[in-house]
Amino acid sequence: MKIVVIGGTGLIGSKLVQTLRERGHDALAASPKTGVNTFTREGLAQAMDGAAVVVDVANAPVWEDKAVLDFFETSGRNLLAAEAAAGVRHHVALSIVGSERLPGNGYFRAKVAQENLIKASGIPHTILRATQFFEFVGGIAQAATVGGEIRLSPALIQPIASDDVVAALAEVTLAPPVNGTLEVAGPEAIPLDELVRRLLQATKDTRKVVPDIHARYFGDVLNDQSLTPGRNPRLGAIRFEDWLSRQTAR
Ligand SMILES: NC(=O)c1ccc[n+]([C@@H]2O[C@H](COP(=O)([O-])OP(=O)(O)OC[C@H]3O[C@@H](n4cnc5c(N)ncnc54)[C@H](OP(=O)(O)O)[C@@H]3O)[C@@H](O)[C@H]2O)c1
Repeated sequence: MKIVVIGGTGLIGSKLVQTLRERGHDALAASPKTGVNTFTREGLAQAMDGAAVVVDVANAPVWEDKAVLDFFETSGRNLLAAEAAAGVRHHVALSIVGSERLPGNGYFRAKVAQENLIKASGIPHTILRATQFFEFVGGIAQAATVGGEIRLSPALIQPIASDDVVAALAEVTLAPPVNGTLEVAGPEAIPLDELVRRLLQATKDTRKVVPDIHARYFGDVLNDQSLTPGRNPRLGAIRFEDWLSRQTAR
């Protein structure tokens, strides 16, 4: 089966392409680097030719509020129109758990806009919402750093290894469309400040993590429901500690 992976050169996309190929599918890694651009439509119609399923795991190059919304809306419209013209039977997209609960951040608003376009498209679809990737925890620390101090909410977060996201995404891609939204999260919920503290400890980073219930996470104050899944999520198997030991052993 021909499966087009938009963003197929990225963190998730490259692993997904490999997994789908190992399972015998004709997976095309589509991205600007391979001549396919959903924002400008370059190479898009050709990429769709003969595709049964399209998985969108692209990410915006710029995360400023207006630019990121423009990226996900324009790319989403272009991609869904190209899929409709080519008769694609299943659109799969990777989104983020709790996006609608964090309206203070332009990135989350853009992901909600992307989801809404998919739901209105009439194309059979599955939206898989994942929690924050382990690989993103360093970025959370960076964004919250002021001087040598990182002020973070102790609200729960249930992050996931990118390998577990890819496994869930591959399963969803090869299953019939659910015309709805599924969630996937890591195996354990951890207070956000503690999660970052564990990363810093393992990487011998001397910055100090200060718990603060008022600290904003990319614009929003958190509670224990903000970054954790709802009922019956799929759960990844890889624990943060195990992932950390593997990273630091490299
Ligand atoms: N980070 C998290 O914690 C998290 C959590 C849940 C969901 N997500 C979602 O997961 C998805 C994948 O994230 P990631 O970390 O794997 O992204 P990434 O590593 O930054 O990769 C982004 C991909 O998007 C492609 N891309 C950029 N502009 C494009 C365009 N105009 N047309 C087509 N492709 C384009 C890039 O292609 P080039 O290599 O050619 O530039 C690259 O393949 C995102 O949609 C994100 O919202 C992330």
